[in-house]
Amino acid sequence: MKEIAVIGAGYVGLVTGACFADLGNRVWCVDVNEAKIESLKMGKVPFFEPGLEEIVRRNLKAGRIFFTTSYAEALKNAEFIFIAVNTPEGSEGEADLSYVEAAAKEIAKHLDHPVIVVNKSTVPIGTGDIVAEIIRENMANPSIPFWVVSNPEFLREGSAVHDFMNPDRIVLGSTSREAAEKVAELYAPLQAPVIITDLRTAEMIKYASNAFLATKISFINEIANICEALGADVKVVAWGMGLDHRIGPEFLGAGIGWGGSCFPKDVRALAYMAATHGCHPQLLRSVIEINQDQRRRLVHKLRSLLGGSLRNKVIGILGLAFKPNTDDMREAPSVEIIHMLQHEGAKVKAYDPAAMENAKAILNGVEFKEDPYQVAEGADALILVTEWNEFKQLDMERIKNLMRKPILMDGRNIYDPEKMRALGFIYRGIGRGFDGAGTSGGS
Ligand code: NAD
Ligand code: UGA
Repeated sequence: MKEIAVIGAGYVGLVTGACFADLGNRVWCVDVNEAKIESLKMGKVPFFEPGLEEIVRRNLKAGRIFFTTSYAEALKNAEFIFIAVNTPEGSEGEADLSYVEAAAKEIAKHLDHPVIVVNKSTVPIGTGDIVAEIIRENMANPSIPFWVVSNPEFLREGSAVHDFMNPDRIVLGSTSREAAEKVAELYAPLQAPVIITDLRTAEMIKYASNAFLATKISFINEIANICEALGADVKVVAWGMGLDHRIGPEFLGAGIGWGGSCFPKDVRALAYMAATHGCHPQLLRSVIEINQDQRRRLVHKLRSLLGGSLRNKVIGILGLAFKPNTDDMREAPSVEIIHMLQHEGAKVKAYDPAAMENAKAILNGVEFKEDPYQVAEGADALILVTEWNEFKQLDMERIKNLMRKPILMDGRNIYDPEKMRALGFIYRGIGRGFDGAGTSGGS
């Protein structure tokens, strides 16, 4: 059992804290957000992440996890301090490090015993050294030793607990191998391969991994668009490609592109770092551009199907969250698509199983409905934006009969084009034969 403090109780911090507690450690989570901490003290996770609340409650009950807004309380006996605060995008595409810097200053202020500071936030290459410098400059007692370790996190929202507990690898970067090895011991029960390297290399592994995954998606989206022009089905193409183990089947899902709190900001931050250090990140820029075009292309296709104008057309949106199994609306493709539709005069109705409250806070003029059938009623077109499981087994005949015009834009390729057309839909997927209509041609 180790004493661990985690700074920032968001998706990464809370999952890290709860999972380390579940592995038998004593964990203090500290956050500046009082409402969040109050809710967590009562065992209520203030965001939707499958399985997380159960682990938090179990460990609260067992007396292994504690929540506070007081750094003094959280850091008192900590042997390891994990930084897991947000690193949002700055105005030029760079990562905003102000929260990490604030956390480092607080650590310095409360440092009265030797400690290992582990950075889990996604931070620009070189930040590990900056964190060490900030702590050194702000320590009350400069004779106390501390070590900084970079430990990037690779979990996905929606499967965060599973991903944390079943990592493909643990990456640790430090100037002190001994400190990195001590952090590795925390993960020993997970039996994952461990890479120990220097700080900068560890920080780069995180950006390179996210950028590569985003590149894979943009690649398949470009292929999807070519499939539409040439009459091939991208789903089968991706399957055929993915069976080659050098390529792999994951992240070859063509659609309206990647969103979320990480890919967009991380790809832009890497491109920014590259450009400001004399490199020309042309691949990364294309990856970003292809992603933006995917949403525009869908709106363009819809406008054509509706006779060249979206004015006063009623468009139903199925799914708002940036991906299924989360209520996170950060950089959700739905927001961009809805803004484009509204800009062209369309009326938008929407439903999401989990993200409606968060969506209401950022979307104006949208009619939020209680289920997919209410969204379909009187709609001139439906756009499937987020592939929640509950949208896969809808009564599509009923949906079609409720609509004013049976146009179905399948932004995540979850429906069978043949079946949809047999039901009478004007179906458009992404890269599914001529014009995205399905392998046997347009309808
Ligand atoms: P989040 O916004 O969900 O949570 C961050 C938390 O930190 C918030 O609760 C905020 O109140 C708190 N905070 C901010 N400043 C603080 C301070 N000075 N002291 C104490 N608490 C403070 O963010 P997140 O999604 O968990 O992401 C955290 C970091 O992890 C980011 O760098 C992100 O890029 C990275 N990351 C995120 C994911 C993911 O799936 N969300 C996965 C891997 C890595
Ligand atoms: C992503 C990475 O997968 C994690 O490894 C990483 O830790 C995390 O970013 C991060 O750094 O925050 P996340 O954003 O939670 O995780 O979700 P993903 O499952 O990667 O999906 C990201 C976006 O890509 C979603 O909008 C999703 O719809 C889209 N996507 C994903 C596709 O369009 N096609 C695919 O085949 C896969």
